[in-house]
Amino acid sequence: MASGLILGIESSCDETAAAVVRSGSAVLSNVVASQIATHALYGGVVPELASREHLTNIVPVVRTAVAEAGITLDDLDAVAVTEGPGLAGALLVGITYAKALAYGLGKPLIAVNHLEGHIHAVLMEAKETLSLTPGAPVLALVVSGGHTHLYLAEERGGLWSYRNVGRTIDDAAGEAYDKSAKLLGLGYPGGPLMDFLADHGDPNAVEFKLGGIKPKLHRDGASRGGEFDFSFSGIKTAVLRYTELHHMRERAAARHNALMQVEGNRREAALALCDRETLDLIASFQKAVVGYLVKQTMRAAEEFGAGSIVVSGGVAANRALRERMSAEAAARHLQIAFPSLALATDNAAMIAAAAWPKFAAGLFASDELNATPQLRL
Ligand code: KG4
Ligand code: ZN
Repeated sequence: MASGLILGIESSCDETAAAVVRSGSAVLSNVVASQIATHALYGGVVPELASREHLTNIVPVVRTAVAEAGITLDDLDAVAVTEGPGLAGALLVGITYAKALAYGLGKPLIAVNHLEGHIHAVLMEAKETLSLTPGAPVLALVVSGGHTHLYLAEERGGLWSYRNVGRTIDDAAGEAYDKSAKLLGLGYPGGPLMDFLADHGDPNAVEFKLGGIKPKLHRDGASRGGEFDFSFSGIKTAVLRYTELHHMRERAAARHNALMQVEGNRREAALALCDRETLDLIASFQKAVVGYLVKQTMRAAEEFGAGSIVVSGGVAANRALRERMSAEAAARHLQIAFPSLALATDNAAMIAAAAWPKFAAGLFASDELNATPQLRL
């Protein structure tokens, strides 16, 4: 008798994660081994190091997730794993392990798109609060270090389908945060620190312009630069110019070195190391990025007659984004939901949750399942 227990495994980027979720929404365990300390030394994710750390962490992480759920491997109904998008070598570790585990246990294997996982991170928690109406799709903004996508999501007969209506044509929003933070000597990943520091500066000090995308033809022949697409490479360049023009580069390098020595509260230390000009720049950057994300999302919600909005991915942890997006949604009588902080960044509970409808429909992965680094949703 199936008890609805799915083990999720996620290894697409720099977190090795495993979780046990019952019936798509009850999180029995959610274990994440972060590699931030390793990659911070290099100012970004180093793919080969990520693969190696996944290999070291995967068995202990799964063991812990199963133990914390208070079950044994035999109790599982299925194993779900991230198929893509992500780093090839990193994905392969999770997939190879999940395949072997499912095979050994004689349980089905379910392949999950990482982006669908992020969307389900919100849906699994918001089941009671969101009242979904047929014909009024959910507009999902997935906004992380690797992605800035807008999807229309609809449930039919228990299964979800997605239509991509907008995406970044260059950098992701989280990438803009990380790259700008790096320019200011704030280390990696920069988003959480920038979010904290933004409260201490004047958001109207510097005017950044975002938007104004020129459609361009890509290698795959598809044209990008649609009405609901995003572009974030301009603001990164604008931050670079600003720091050069205002002779902030040396101060940033000194700040970087000083922050590397800090063991305790990095936030307070970073605040003490930032001058007024830097804080104003950060506040202005955040205002521009958040305003842009909110504007594009609201325009798409109106265009496609969305009934609700869900925001997920690492940048969904941003407090200013949550506030602005919630206020604008309320003004339009749109329902809105965000994931809890634990489910906003990469985790495996969202993979197990996204796998649940597939399990119910018998949509299992074949023995030939492979990593798909550029997997689309
Ligand atoms: O979803 P995630 O853990 O991994 C990816 O799939 O990318 O997202 C990580 C990204 C990083 O770029 C990080 O700087 C950003 O999310 N991030 C934030 C905040 N917390 C994390 N960006 C802005 N404000 C935050 N509070
Ligand atoms: Zn992610």
